[in-house]
Amino acid sequence: MAIKGKQIHMKKGATIDSLEITGISSEGKGVGRVNGQVVFVKETVPGDIVKAKVVGKKKKFLEAYAEEIITKSDERIVPFCEHFGLCGGCKWQHMHYDSQLKYKQKHVEENLQKLSGLELPQTNAILGSSETTFYRNKLEFTFSNFRWLTKEEIASGEEYVRTGLGFHIPKQFNKIINVEKCYLQADPSNEIRLKVKSFADAHDIPFFDVKKQEGFLRNLVIRTSTTGDLMVILQVYYRDQELIDLMLNHLKKEFPQITSLMYVVNEKGNDSFSDQEVLLFAGKDHIMEQMGDLKFKIGPKSFYQTNSVQAHELYKVAADFAGLKGDELVYDLYTGTGTIANFVARSAKKVIGIEYVEEAIADAKVNSELNGIANTYFYAGDMKDLLGNEFINKHGKPDVIITDPPRAGMHPRVTQLLAEIKSDRIVYVSCNPATQARDLEVLGQVYDVVKIQPVDMFPQTQHIESVVLLELKSEFKDKN
Ligand SMILES: C[S@@+](CC[C@H](N)C(=O)[O-])C[C@H]1O[C@@H](n2cnc3c(N)ncnc32)[C@H](O)[C@@H]1O
Repeated sequence: MAIKGKQIHMKKGATIDSLEITGISSEGKGVGRVNGQVVFVKETVPGDIVKAKVVGKKKKFLEAYAEEIITKSDERIVPFCEHFGLCGGCKWQHMHYDSQLKYKQKHVEENLQKLSGLELPQTNAILGSSETTFYRNKLEFTFSNFRWLTKEEIASGEEYVRTGLGFHIPKQFNKIINVEKCYLQADPSNEIRLKVKSFADAHDIPFFDVKKQEGFLRNLVIRTSTTGDLMVILQVYYRDQELIDLMLNHLKKEFPQITSLMYVVNEKGNDSFSDQEVLLFAGKDHIMEQMGDLKFKIGPKSFYQTNSVQAHELYKVAADFAGLKGDELVYDLYTGTGTIANFVARSAKKVIGIEYVEEAIADAKVNSELNGIANTYFYAGDMKDLLGNEFINKHGKPDVIITDPPRAGMHPRVTQLLAEIKSDRIVYVSCNPATQARDLEVLGQVYDVVKIQPVDMFPQTQHIESVVLLELKSEFKDKN
């Protein structure tokens, strides 16, 4: 398709009359080219032809939005959520799920190929999620006394309620959209959020003002579980026990299915409550998750994979790649609450989990106990400091390493150590193929990449999980 824009150097505010979207970026935006320049256009799909307005100019690319979609791509569908475009939650819901999977697969293949510089096997077909909506087990909603208004609301000239309970607009910490219906978490999540908001409005309970740092209601966390357990945590700014009791008694009465009702009084500047005391109002202080024949106890601060069903599929891939026979020493790096460690423990001689969040390590131990698993050992510490020759001399050289680092990938010191350890196999689980590729480049000197499996944990988003199996090169096996 010919590009009609004539300028060689497009400026902010310029219009590109006709731009064909030919690809999609790792951030999830459509990608086109004008006069050799890359243009990222949000909410577009490969195959779209759009009239685009340039809103940002960087050294190597332009940022734009579609003023008009001239020709719609066959991959485009009508977004199901009224908050699409404003809310950062489900950025790809304007694309068929099959297309989402196709681009995720491509993203893993291209990143690993281009960035690792290694010879790679063919990537396995991506494992799609059985649920493409209502798949999350945890959501966090923020209260605001000054919610974001849509253009339509402003234009209508009607009176509107200014309080809101919902999500942040991406990259704008003080802008909250009031969510009417969220497609990410199953009922009664929406019902609870709506009732909490209407009750607070009706009783004039002050919503938080993040700029002025005043108001009472800060945020609401809802955690659902495959066992039917349901946790609700209300976070407030100051201790007013009467108001806390009023809100929570209302919730307790309206939602008898809540098994764990909790609250936090957080006087800090931000909403994070990992360093705050979470108080029990009614029910149990945890919920239970079930994965296969394993049970996991989840406290209000515990991490658990947010798509429980697909997490099971991911762990099955990791366990399959680990190929355990029963006599191996396994290291599970970045173990979190020890879910992978416990998942593979019955197939190994011994599993050692390492993680820097101490509470998560405490949960990991409880989870082993709960499942009668006695061959797991968990240690808290920063990976780059704790995992070294001294640790390996003390605990033994692992036969198999499973590593599941955060988006930033592994610290170079850790990657280097894994190359030096020369275990038989490494299973590398990653939520960021770019950093995974970077680490594979180093590991590739000693290991061959033999399997690659993309797994979709987050439908309607650009996020993708990729599992890679590395095997020690034959020339090192002999010397080992
Ligand atoms: C992607 S999560 C994996 C969790 C776990 N494998 C699971 O499936 O639930 C990454 C984990 O690495 C931990 N982590 C991040 N940086 C770390 C570091 N420098 N040292 C140790 N653990 C770290 C995080 O706290 C988090 O639990």
